[in-house]
Amino acid sequence: MLKIVVCVSGGGTNLQAIMDALDAGKITDTEILAVISNNAGAGALERARAHGIPDFCISPKSYPDREAFNRAFTDRVKELAPDIVVLAGFLVRIPPQMVQAFSNRIVNIHPSLIPSFCGVGYYGLKVHEKVLERGVKITGATVHFVNEGMDEGPIIAQKPVMIEQDDTPEILQRRVMEQAEWILLPQAIDDIAHGRLEIREGHVYRR
Ligand code: GRF
Repeated sequence: MLKIVVCVSGGGTNLQAIMDALDAGKITDTEILAVISNNAGAGALERARAHGIPDFCISPKSYPDREAFNRAFTDRVKELAPDIVVLAGFLVRIPPQMVQAFSNRIVNIHPSLIPSFCGVGYYGLKVHEKVLERGVKITGATVHFVNEGMDEGPIIAQKPVMIEQDDTPEILQRRVMEQAEWILLPQAIDDIAHGRLEIREGHVYRR
């Protein structure tokens, strides 16, 4: 049984996609131990409660400095003892000590085709604003393992999404979620649950 902790910051549509996939049997042999958010008002926490999943809020604002938050956050996750940590719309930098403790066991969904439109400042709607500003014709989403860098870890899978005439950032974000994020993240979790992924020299291979 793969035990996961899901970290969220916003509306929780990616968390919902994971819960729905579990209910539909598209993810099997997997249990969500808890949902953690840095944002007490996150809609994702409501979604967790509605699904009977324990939820916690750990915010950097509750600690004297970032180091203290990093320690508390890492200790909390270690106490839960998940096999993997899933970042589903989580907007807080993962503490280095957590990356070390969960090496290649933290999975993130990013709303672009990495290495395009990622890194510092590229999150949420901003990604899609930059995509439209640049005038690219194809975007998409990437699910990847997290390393010390920002959106630089080994790529697990990607899915393309076509830009359409008159797209706004909001319309594009929704299409990337529907056509890519909500498919990629559950699939990656089920692949990990069934040992289908292998990492060789920093590249991920699906058996
Ligand atoms: C979305 O833009 C998603 O691409 C990114 O975080 C944002 C919120 O996602 N990963 P969610 O609805 O909270 O899952």
